[in-house]
Amino acid sequence: MDRIAIQGGFRLEGQIPISGAKNAALPLMCAGLLTKGTLRLSNLPHLADIKTLKSLLLGHGTKIKTEDEGLDVAKGAVITLSSPDITNTVAPYDIVRKMRASILVLGPLLARTGEATVSLPGGCAIGNRPIDLHLKGFEDLGAQIELKEGYVRAKAPTGRLKGGTVHFATVSVGATENILMAAALAEGTSVIENAAREPEISDLAHCLNAMGAKITGIGTETLTVIGVDSLHDADYAVMADRIEAGSYAIAAAMTGGEIEILGKNLVPALTGTLDMLRSAGLSLDETDSGMMVKLESDLVKGVDATTHPYPGFPTDMQAQVMAMMSLCDSVSVITETIFENRFMHVPELCRMGADITTHGSTATVRGVKRLLGAEVMATDLRASMSLVLAGLVAEGDTYINRIYHLDRGYDRLCEKLLKVGARIERQVGKGI
Ligand code: UD1
Repeated sequence: MDRIAIQGGFRLEGQIPISGAKNAALPLMCAGLLTKGTLRLSNLPHLADIKTLKSLLLGHGTKIKTEDEGLDVAKGAVITLSSPDITNTVAPYDIVRKMRASILVLGPLLARTGEATVSLPGGCAIGNRPIDLHLKGFEDLGAQIELKEGYVRAKAPTGRLKGGTVHFATVSVGATENILMAAALAEGTSVIENAAREPEISDLAHCLNAMGAKITGIGTETLTVIGVDSLHDADYAVMADRIEAGSYAIAAAMTGGEIEILGKNLVPALTGTLDMLRSAGLSLDETDSGMMVKLESDLVKGVDATTHPYPGFPTDMQAQVMAMMSLCDSVSVITETIFENRFMHVPELCRMGADITTHGSTATVRGVKRLLGAEVMATDLRASMSLVLAGLVAEGDTYINRIYHLDRGYDRLCEKLLKVGARIERQVGKGI
């Protein structure tokens, strides 16, 4: 296994291009299953999860052509997906277990062919993560659902889903996306109530409309979808990754540096994060190509933060903000309301000298004067980034193990940070 070594204490300065968003790219690629035509996607990030989804889609009969590898870190890859025939409607355990977002093929397969069999994803490091909301939504669109031998078997009895009202008891990003894709090809009109409003959902909805879907209410908690018989070719650019942008904004602040994060439409996408970062003392000024970020004073101000669905403060920024608060001028109380086990970075940050105590879903972070480099273990994607951030300012060397988590969600992390002055290196085969 590889590990990342960071020599802390260097101020970051320069520009960091923000890649296409993982959480937008994955559903957009699944949307390719909805049409016999071609979906061309640009600005795709280089991530392990994208590769995993490609192998899943190939198994369903999708043909994937890479037009541009996206070797230029500022542009991303360009691929075309075409699925004239769905040759297999089973998503196997072997792939789904690697990446929970694989469940997003269920809606498109079911809508396109009238049936789908997808392995149940199981729990993951940050919580149980059930898929009951997805399944209830498909039932509301007329599907019959059976759970057998670890798989969900979904079937539309007449061969086509029927439009209906889907009311989500809890806001779910993945369930909203899955039902939105399924409803696009259902017979009649569907209304999705209490839909998640994350920008990645709007990105998906805009792409579906570009493919000929009829979706209104985009960006609101009620989506109305008039089902169509088929979708057609489209060309779509994946939105910039707001979580990557927020993470690098924190890197600039923690190192006392000044970074321009480069990406389109970052301000609306970062709603919920910007207010929190500004209260902590960061200045974030929009520029022609993105946003200029720096810390206005010497120390980060302690600010309380509670995670909520968009437009609230995102759970995917919680670990990184906690790393920043480790060095704040006072005390910060951070509450996680979305996932039940998302504090696994706490013991690792404490090994680096942070003073954090947890009580249920609340963490109390008492700012310390300095962090110290240590050998630490990445536990999930965003937790891993919190350790990178801590390592960038810690005194001495930090070694981060199990970095396959970072490879899932941060496009060319070492390359981007090296260019702005970090001392960071991927050490091949040295991890544990
Ligand atoms: C997506 C993001 C993930 C982010 C999360 C919350 C992707 C690929 N991943 O995950 O990075 O952290 O949104 O913003 O986009 N729930 C149920 N039943 C369900 C579905 C969800 O109880 O059927 C619960 C979950 O356990 C969780 C909450 O709802 O407590 C929110 O989960 P959800 O929004 O569905 O997250 P994901 O789509 O899995």
